[in-house]
Amino acid sequence: MKLCMIGTGYVGLVSGVCFSDLGNDVICVDKDEKKINNLKKGNIPIYEPGLEELVLKNYKNKRLNFSTNLQNSIKKSDIIFICVGTPTKKNGSGADLSQIYSVANEISKSINKFKVIITKSTVPVMTGDELEKIISKKVNKKKFSVVSNPEFLREGEAIRDFIYPDRVVIGTNDKKSNLMLKNLYAPLISKGAKYISTNRRAAELIKYASNAFLATKITFINEIANLCEKTGIDVEDISIGIGLDKRIGSRFLRAGPAYGGSCFPKDTKAIISTANKFKINLSVIKSVVKSNTQRSSLLLNRVNHILNNKIKNKKICFLGVTFKANTDDMRDSSSLEMIPYLSKKGAKIKYYDPTGSKQEFAKLKNVLCSSSISDAVKGSDLVIIHTEWNDFKSINFKRLFPSKKLKIYDMRNIFQPNKIKSLGFKYFGVGR
Ligand SMILES: NC(=O)c1ccc[n+]([C@@H]2O[C@H](COP(=O)([O-])OP(=O)(O)OC[C@H]3O[C@@H](n4cnc5c(N)ncnc54)[C@H](O)[C@@H]3O)[C@@H](O)[C@H]2O)c1
Repeated sequence: MKLCMIGTGYVGLVSGVCFSDLGNDVICVDKDEKKINNLKKGNIPIYEPGLEELVLKNYKNKRLNFSTNLQNSIKKSDIIFICVGTPTKKNGSGADLSQIYSVANEISKSINKFKVIITKSTVPVMTGDELEKIISKKVNKKKFSVVSNPEFLREGEAIRDFIYPDRVVIGTNDKKSNLMLKNLYAPLISKGAKYISTNRRAAELIKYASNAFLATKITFINEIANLCEKTGIDVEDISIGIGLDKRIGSRFLRAGPAYGGSCFPKDTKAIISTANKFKINLSVIKSVVKSNTQRSSLLLNRVNHILNNKIKNKKICFLGVTFKANTDDMRDSSSLEMIPYLSKKGAKIKYYDPTGSKQEFAKLKNVLCSSSISDAVKGSDLVIIHTEWNDFKSINFKRLFPSKKLKIYDMRNIFQPNKIKSLGFKYFGVGR
């Protein structure tokens, strides 16, 4: 099939390259000329395990192409995926859909034959209705169909998630589009993905409800961890103990910093805003957002306590600054709150992240990026494990700190407390 991905970010690039690998002709379009030129040269704009090999292979085979020419790319394609960003509005009131609507206007100028237009971006309920209205101002309704096909991939595991999804959700009442999409996804369905056909609004809401539920699970275990810290219990035991109940499930039950990333923070806020419009009070999700917003301050209070209320001039090392491991994505990472706070309080901070230095910290006082774990850790008073990269699990603290005067705040609980303590170091975890 001939596909066009509009927006070549995490979702557009990963799904575009995976569709091309399944044998389709795919054009990934972006308005960012630099990004497209780099991709044509084989330079991948994001860190995502396995992505580079797959892009190079399919670009070489000419099944995958990159372009900035939106109109031409739409004309050449049968199925158009909208994969542009839907960030939170500047005033905080719900999703900013300006990128989506601007793309809809562009599409309406380029429809030369029947097109299936799909929102893969996460969009509030009834956005599909609005897209249909915008496009039908210029194009006869028989010449296009607007479908919702939300994407559930996770950064860091995006390719595997795309190829082996739990489910493919298609929201449309149009039989022709449904059949085309069933064919497109047939290779994934044959590997076990469930194909779920709903109306468009339901598909839009499935995505928000999923993210809100997962954010709730994380926040739930984070709050239980707070209780564990006061009662001499290891939250890891609780996670195992409740996670083995099949009604609950063990995933997304690891206590740690506030959830971040490009999805949960904005999507929880957006579903609340949608519900408000319909005068529905999503009180559970509201309290999740509130609890998560307070989480970084809570963890910073613990840092203060660990350092005996003396942050000034303390050497603090952050291992990992992205919102989670295996991604370079800094969006809504809790380090964006923690590092500026500690720098303001006079701490001397070094950080190491396997995906390199971050411009977000470039202008902060006393914040330096190290090029190796050992350089970052050496001489520190406190090491904070902020993300759970495998690289950090095998650090030989004994070799780096013969003096044993080191405190370790393991915000991801990647170490066994007793093991670290037996080496003579002071260990602090989350909820333990
Ligand atoms: N990142 C994830 O893990 C993830 C997972 C599932 C769903 N989503 C959803 O997918 C959508 C995209 O997220 P992302 O993380 O890939 O965003 P992103 O910011 O990485 O990429 C969006 C891209 O769209 C491009 N763009 C914007 N307007 C354009 C236009 N008019 N024409 C061409 N290109 C344009 C931007 O230049 C950018 O490269 C969001 O709605 C998000 O919520 C994201």
